Amino acid sequence: MIRAIVFDAYGTLFDVHSVMGACEHRFPHRGAELSRLWRQKQLEYTWLRSLMDRYENFERITSDALVHACGALGLHLDDAGRVALMDEYRHLAPYPEVPSTLLELADRPKVILSNGSPAMLDAVVANAGLESGFEAVLSVDPLRIFKPSPRVYQLAVDRLGVAPAEIGFASSNSWDIAGATAFGFTTFWINRAGQHADELGQTPHAVLSGLDQLAGHL
Ligand code: LAC
Repeated sequence: MIRAIVFDAYGTLFDVHSVMGACEHRFPHRGAELSRLWRQKQLEYTWLRSLMDRYENFERITSDALVHACGALGLHLDDAGRVALMDEYRHLAPYPEVPSTLLELADRPKVILSNGSPAMLDAVVANAGLESGFEAVLSVDPLRIFKPSPRVYQLAVDRLGVAPAEIGFASSNSWDIAGATAFGFTTFWINRAGQHADELGQTPHAVLSGLDQLAGHL
């Protein structure tokens, strides 16, 4: 019995690669590789800073990852360019099935649980017009550690007052699904791109090709 739904934000509700157009515009023919390396480094920095016990919020991490990615690819990024590309993160496109999925799940509490900093999350949710779809937007920021720390998943349990197994957790990030499964959530891996699962000793409860399949699996 799934009594509440917890969504990851970046990559699950919002397409992080919608920055590719702006990357391509600024650095012709390099947009795809920049977008890929930017995201990869952003994730790595969350894990590394958590292990180092040197937390910085996701906005800073995303900016640092952008600076690194441009440097590594030999792209000259000035301050105005950095600010403009960072602003894209506040305007990420939601995946097309998100509004209808939220309507289909109207009978259950729904929250976002994300590595994002509160300001970034509030902006991207508001810019997509999705504020009314969620009871709460929960950020790791007060804990100063990132997913997949179990302390982060506990935030959602505390807020919802629902046992972990009765919480459906949806994420497109295989490593996030592994963390959430280990924590005890009932997990739905949104594997839109048909990626290979991470080998972390955890199996999602279901693998779906889009959020539109979620309601049918609850
Ligand atoms: C998030 C990233 C990890 O929203 O996708 O937490």
